[in-house]
Amino acid sequence: MLLTIPQVLTKGEVAQIRALLDAADWEDGGKTAGAQSGAVKHNRQLPPTSEAAQTAGQFIVQALTKQPRFMSAALPARILPPMFNKYEQAENFGKHVDNAIRVNPLTQERLRTDLSMTLFLSEPDSYDGGELMVEDYYGQKAVKLAAGDLVLYPATSIHQVTPVTSGSRVSAFFWLQSMVRSDIQRRTLFDLDTTIQALTARLGITDPQVVDLTGIYHNLIRQWTDV
Ligand code: NI
Repeated sequence: MLLTIPQVLTKGEVAQIRALLDAADWEDGGKTAGAQSGAVKHNRQLPPTSEAAQTAGQFIVQALTKQPRFMSAALPARILPPMFNKYEQAENFGKHVDNAIRVNPLTQERLRTDLSMTLFLSEPDSYDGGELMVEDYYGQKAVKLAAGDLVLYPATSIHQVTPVTSGSRVSAFFWLQSMVRSDIQRRTLFDLDTTIQALTARLGITDPQVVDLTGIYHNLIRQWTDV
């Protein structure tokens, strides 16, 4: 499932984070890539342990975990600190798959990457190209969102970032391990939760069938989660 979470950050918050990032030192993005992805990765990024990356990353994770739609869709167990990249002057990131296991550079904790996230920090009309192309069961989708918006997609997918032919594309990218390993089970839980929220709005939280469905949701969570 590919899902957009709009306005994770306000425009003011984007401007604050951009001021922090734009003043920081960027390095070659190949440093944190795996063998295959390193061969096709042409961009720059902030050192993951730099103060700017940590400050901006913590702010983003705090804002994101306040979003009920994100929590419902991702059911996060652990979230890796966001990293930051920049594409300019025809830089791009060719087709690749993200590493299945990553190590948190701050805690050395290992984490399985179930879901990938990109939070856009440049307005789409400020650069040409730079689409995130994600292949899923239904074909290829091009994603280019407003600054402050986030896309959540399965880390199992092959994806790429097309060349940025003018302007500058800055974004945060990161991964999470979900409490639910299976994409189809996460999708089912998200659909059920969304339906329960809509029924609750129509019938009230004490409606007997709303209570029953809420019970079914939690019983599925009990069956399918590892916490
Ligand atoms: Ni990737």
